[in-house]
Amino acid sequence: MEVVICKTKEEASKLAADMITAAVKKNPKTVLGLATGSTPVLMYNEMAKAVKARKVSYKQVKSWNLDEYYGLAGTHDQSYRYFMNENLFKKIDIQIKNTHVLNGLAKDPVKECAAYEKQIKAAGGIDIQVLGIGSDGHIAFNEPGTSLASRTSIVYLTPSTVKDNARLFFKGDMEAVPKSALSMGVGTICEAKKIILLAFGENKQDALKGCVEGPMSQFCTASALQAHNDAWIFCDEAAAKKLKLKKYYAWRSATKLGL
Ligand code: PGA
Repeated sequence: MEVVICKTKEEASKLAADMITAAVKKNPKTVLGLATGSTPVLMYNEMAKAVKARKVSYKQVKSWNLDEYYGLAGTHDQSYRYFMNENLFKKIDIQIKNTHVLNGLAKDPVKECAAYEKQIKAAGGIDIQVLGIGSDGHIAFNEPGTSLASRTSIVYLTPSTVKDNARLFFKGDMEAVPKSALSMGVGTICEAKKIILLAFGENKQDALKGCVEGPMSQFCTASALQAHNDAWIFCDEAAAKKLKLKKYYAWRSATKLGL
């Protein structure tokens, strides 16, 4: 696991975006796994800037998103499909038919999730998976207690995630936040060839500590990344505050990134 600690989230987002831009330049048919939430927005803005500056094109890129609220249509302004359209897809030259988000209105969620896994496999698997991290250590909607081998399925949100998501979205209304979702599993996520996890702010200190230095455990599903051989964590100093091996990570990432 490479842990890149930057002074600010702006700096970390730019570095992560540069990594994606370089990969898409090298392979214009890159398959991306994408995330929602407040965390990746700055990185998505940087990706859009690179497209505007004609440094890269997403015309042949395909994407699969991590998750979607169960019960929300993709047209709902709090759905993750809507979020992706507004925060990334409209800003880059990706073809919307090449973007995939689980259908929150699927009548048969089991079938929907199985079909999603099949599509990813048929595309050759995910080359780069973008992740945020929940304050309880979740990745996608894989809450504490989820098997680290889990596959895409219908899942239930913990009260702390409902609270976090109500604070940032849904105008603070916890009742309005759906309590279930369709989500890629931890096992599905860990099959991506490269993983980029972003973590910013004090609220993520404990989760990041568990992810990077805690025991690998289903009680912090992000810790599954410890067993991945190409996982990158881009974080700011606030999120990294509780990490013990900060100096070592700084030395190693500077060496690897040529900073
Ligand atoms: P956030 O959510 O980016 O809004 O903090 C992260 C997550 O829950 O994965």
